[in-house]
Amino acid sequence: MTTITGNDIAAAQQLLQQGEVVAIPTETVYGLAANALMPEAVTKIFAAKNRPRFNPLIIHIAHWQDAAKYVCRIPETAQVLADHFVPGPLTFLLPKKEIVPDIVTAGSPLVAIRVPAHPLTRELLAGLSFPLAAPSANQSGYISPTSAAHVSASLDGKIPYILDGGSSSVGLESTIIGFDGEGNILLYREGGIGREALETVSGKNVTVAAGNHARPQTSGQLLSHYAPHTSLFIGSIPDLYLRYAEKKVATISFRTRYDLPESVLQFILSENGDLNEAAAKLFDVMRRIDESGVSVILTEIFPEKGLGRAINDRLHRAQTIFRDL
Ligand code: TXA
Ligand code: MG
Repeated sequence: MTTITGNDIAAAQQLLQQGEVVAIPTETVYGLAANALMPEAVTKIFAAKNRPRFNPLIIHIAHWQDAAKYVCRIPETAQVLADHFVPGPLTFLLPKKEIVPDIVTAGSPLVAIRVPAHPLTRELLAGLSFPLAAPSANQSGYISPTSAAHVSASLDGKIPYILDGGSSSVGLESTIIGFDGEGNILLYREGGIGREALETVSGKNVTVAAGNHARPQTSGQLLSHYAPHTSLFIGSIPDLYLRYAEKKVATISFRTRYDLPESVLQFILSENGDLNEAAAKLFDVMRRIDESGVSVILTEIFPEKGLGRAINDRLHRAQTIFRDL
């Protein structure tokens, strides 16, 4: 199959209407989309990504008002958060209506719903009569794509079209939340909306949802996920370097350039200490390091606030020590 990259929304819509898969830009990461209401189309997503069928998909809609077509009930806290953060990098887990096929939710009674903010994809969705199921457009287990070139690197020849909307502005996947009986917020995945912001806007507590790594409720809860091919270690970069000095090393730091030999490939994600900028660069930097031929990545812990939490979460999942679990 020839993969075409372009910005022809009509062409993308036509393919989606025919039950094909299309990679779409979002402000978080690129998604691999298909008609969420057509199980044969959704099957193609799993095949192209080599994704296990037990791992459910987020459905993307044009307007929050459309959520009522797919979910039975919207808790008040969800509505308050939606009024503030939608469209944007926030995904809601809510009880699904019958119309949502089981292949989308992997049999779960909950469906994940998100209204993406990227203008191209909003226009695409607005012209379709169905929602789009879309996981990140990478090979299962690898780093999510934040550009059309990233998508092409892993899915070229496997999908007909990549809708090119430039670099993803947030650069990390959406925050995934659910709700308990009292309307408190359950956090399933750290992401593009920080925990503090959810608490401030809702006036409710955020509790980390119980995750089980053997049978995760979300793939984001699999320890080894979002991982580069190169071994990655987290700690004090200068201390770690002493251990790996004889290897070809790359470092990923927040704002500091360390006093290390010239041969070390240093990536500083934000010289002015902006966590949003750092988040937007992280996945691209991991991919560039994978292509650079170094054998070890050394990283440090980022500040545990705002998007720093999501960055730390992705680094921990990428960490080598967890690979074989
Ligand atoms: O930012 C994002 O969320 C991107 C863009 C494309 O929207 N999508 C994304 O999809 O990251 P994916 O499939 O790579 O990650 C979605 C996560 C998975 O961990 C999946 O297990 C979880 O959402 N998920 C989806 N539906 C679920 C459900 N019904 N119950 C529990 N977890 C669910
Ligand atoms: Mg993914």
